[in-house]
Amino acid sequence: MEKFVIRGGKPLRGEVAIGGAKNAAVAILPATILAGGRCVIENLPCISDVMASLQILSELGADVRMLSKSTYEIDTSRIELTEVSNELSRQMRASYYFLGALLGRFGQAQVAMPGGCNIGVRPIDQHLKAFTALGAKDSVDYGMIRVESAGLRGAHVFFDTNSVGATINAMLAAVMAEGLTVLENVAREPHVVDLANFLNMMGADVYGAGTDVIKIRGVKSLHGCRYAIIPDQIEAGSYMVAAAVTGGDVTVRNVTPKHLEPISVKLRAAGCEVEEYDDAVRVWRTGALRPLKIKTMPHPGFPTDMQPQMTVLLSLARGTSIVTESIWENRFRYVDELVHMGANIKVDGQVAVIEGVERLHPAPLRATDLRAGAAMVIAALAADGTSEIDETAYIERGYENIVEKLQALGADVRRVEAPLGALTRAV
Ligand code: EPU
Repeated sequence: MEKFVIRGGKPLRGEVAIGGAKNAAVAILPATILAGGRCVIENLPCISDVMASLQILSELGADVRMLSKSTYEIDTSRIELTEVSNELSRQMRASYYFLGALLGRFGQAQVAMPGGCNIGVRPIDQHLKAFTALGAKDSVDYGMIRVESAGLRGAHVFFDTNSVGATINAMLAAVMAEGLTVLENVAREPHVVDLANFLNMMGADVYGAGTDVIKIRGVKSLHGCRYAIIPDQIEAGSYMVAAAVTGGDVTVRNVTPKHLEPISVKLRAAGCEVEEYDDAVRVWRTGALRPLKIKTMPHPGFPTDMQPQMTVLLSLARGTSIVTESIWENRFRYVDELVHMGANIKVDGQVAVIEGVERLHPAPLRATDLRAGAAMVIAALAADGTSEIDETAYIERGYENIVEKLQALGADVRRVEAPLGALTRAV
């Protein structure tokens, strides 16, 4: 078991390069199944969710070859299996994308109820609603989800909830269904657009991704292609906030500044400077942090995946901030950790009221989920002493080489092996 040891109080300075987007990668990798051929995927982040997706592809019978650290060749022509093993399904949330992809190509799929971060109830009713509309039957028995169809047909689906996962799964199942599929009230996140671009590169006919309505004209077959995944909006945003919180000056490279706007706008309102270039943003701060009101919303609103990191920043602002979480019902669990550090935060249901404090103090910390883990790292970087963070496997699920990237920015951070039983606080 690993932990991070962080001696805070040093402003981050320099440049950091952002990797490919986790939430695009975990959709695009299963989508290669639809090609039934050879795809080369570039800009894959080296994180555990990507490794698990590659392992699932390999177990299903795909030929997976690493061409470089971030480029993989995946030949899905010889896949015959349609069941994802229980163990791998449960390692990450996004294993449910194998349902849509396998159903789309083979007319059947079985995946265990997915795992992932514990940030609230994570139903899949909207995914199943789309599969059913396309003509599939589903059953959920003993934690296994099974979908099958004798032939998918295009359909009109109006989603009751704006869901990234359901939008993506419906796209995967519909690209080779017969006829026209119209998906309404869909998610507009950059990774939904990235998947649409990838599917179109493979010969699909997907139109409207990035708006509320996606139209898909089913094609008989798809083919392999070469594709580079978009930069990770949330990894970039996390470094932007870390620069701001520590009073540093960081240029975040390899990004799409347009995707970062919901974050840049809030950082500027909090008193930080954000300068945008073609594929980089520079963030720095000279004065005090100002309090804000933030409500998480689907894209292009403020992303829920940046909520914990931003709460750390606001815990050091001069005045009262209000953060409302409107996507997940259980995404303030990390607040207890910040309170241990001296933050003054009261949570009532989905709302956190934050009275800014002068400084955060070091403490033994725990990453309660991926983004909460990023928030703990940022808080520890700001604290005036040495903090230790346990459960760092959560963080490594979404942040490639986080320790090395922070070290290059001048942070005093180490990854150390924590012997079992040596945890500083019961978890
Ligand atoms: N929902 C339903 N029914 C469904 C699906 C979702 O009610 O069938 C609800 C959820 O309970 C939630 C809301 O709809 O309240 C949004 O959920 P969504 O389906 O959009 O989330 P997701 O696809 O499971 C993805 C990201 C999350 C990110 C959310 C919201 C992936 C693999 N995960 O999850 O990312 O928080 O969208 O943007 O793409 C993370 O990266 O840390 C992370 C948790």
